[in-house]
Amino acid sequence: MSKSGSINTKLSQSYISEMVKAIPPSGIRKFFDLLSSIEGVISLGVGEPDFVTPWHIREAAIYSLEKGYTMYTSNKGTPELRAELARHLDSRFGLTYHPDNEILITVGVSEGLDLTMRAILNPGDEVIMPDPCYVAYPASVSLAGGIPVRVPTTEENNFEITADDIEPRITQRTKAILLGYPSNPTGAVLSKEGLAQIAELAKRHNLLVISDEVYDRLVYGVEHTCLAALPGMRERTILLNGFSKSYAMTGWRIGYASSDKEIIGAMTKIHQYTMLCAPIMGQMAALEALKADDDEVDDMVRDYDRRRRLIVKGFRDIGLSCFEPRGAFYAFPAIKVTGMTSEEFAEKLLWEEKVAVVPGTAFGKCGEGYIRCCYATSLPDIEEALNRMGRFIEKHRKK
Ligand SMILES: Cc1ncc(COP(=O)(O)O)c(C=O)c1O
Repeated sequence: MSKSGSINTKLSQSYISEMVKAIPPSGIRKFFDLLSSIEGVISLGVGEPDFVTPWHIREAAIYSLEKGYTMYTSNKGTPELRAELARHLDSRFGLTYHPDNEILITVGVSEGLDLTMRAILNPGDEVIMPDPCYVAYPASVSLAGGIPVRVPTTEENNFEITADDIEPRITQRTKAILLGYPSNPTGAVLSKEGLAQIAELAKRHNLLVISDEVYDRLVYGVEHTCLAALPGMRERTILLNGFSKSYAMTGWRIGYASSDKEIIGAMTKIHQYTMLCAPIMGQMAALEALKADDDEVDDMVRDYDRRRRLIVKGFRDIGLSCFEPRGAFYAFPAIKVTGMTSEEFAEKLLWEEKVAVVPGTAFGKCGEGYIRCCYATSLPDIEEALNRMGRFIEKHRKK
């Protein structure tokens, strides 16, 4: 770059806010920018379903276009989708939310997270969350002027956050606990008892709980517990969920938040100035997804489960200790037998064997010594990735 180019870069950097400068780029995207330049890579990287959205859902969106539904919707989302969501939450969890003012349709859970933090945080307020956790959690808190407080979780404790671990980290500034179970990146699921203890803690300290349940349908051999459905929790929970993972609809960008009307009102205020509304086509598709029976979701879950069992066994067979994930579509094997850091491991594996995984440290310090592998990819690709990784481990095992 020319001399003047670098001066311009410096100049432009000086315009960027300190808050944004302080946030690291997503450890996932940073790594995957490398991918496009390498041929023959098997990616266990980006966390999205390899299924195409079921046909009847796509068809509903096509019909909606044909009928000319191309305009804004109500800021809160279409009344039909909110009403259907209210029915869905009632029939699944016995939760009643008023579709007029207690449900907001968002642009994915991502927007729901951002709105939540901006609606509840004053500068310096603290939000407690597990480490490792989804990359957007600490960033969304920091961007809203809050302080993320991390609670270490370990493989020995099944990567479950507990009320006992949370309690000593509660201060005068603590506003909320942020949970995301089933977990990205570990696949951990919290038991009903564990959640109930966290719920009691939240009540005792008068805290909000933000519960990102975007993987709620993707559980294997265990039941998902909806936090808001526990006694006394509806009032103090902001439930975030969406269509991306369960219905293979990542590109449609539809999520929702449900909570008490004051909180949803505050979130709607921000949403109406920043986003206006979620895309109408996506909302039409989401309505169809909810109205249909669950057969296709169940088929996808069965399929993920097959791959989950294959990959976990595969890691153990090549000598990697691997916690048994019970939800989402990630495995989180330990790579400590190589003595490498997670970043070194992921980079070397990519260059030497052309398998892409995400270093555990992208999700927090406690991810050191682990890698995240998304198994929402074909069985033959998983098998080949395991072969390549087996070779890699043989070569790099600590002597
Ligand atoms: C835990 C978790 N929450 C939220 C999201 C984002 O979901 P959406 O596509 O609905 O914005 C992801 C995406 O990977 C995720 O893993």
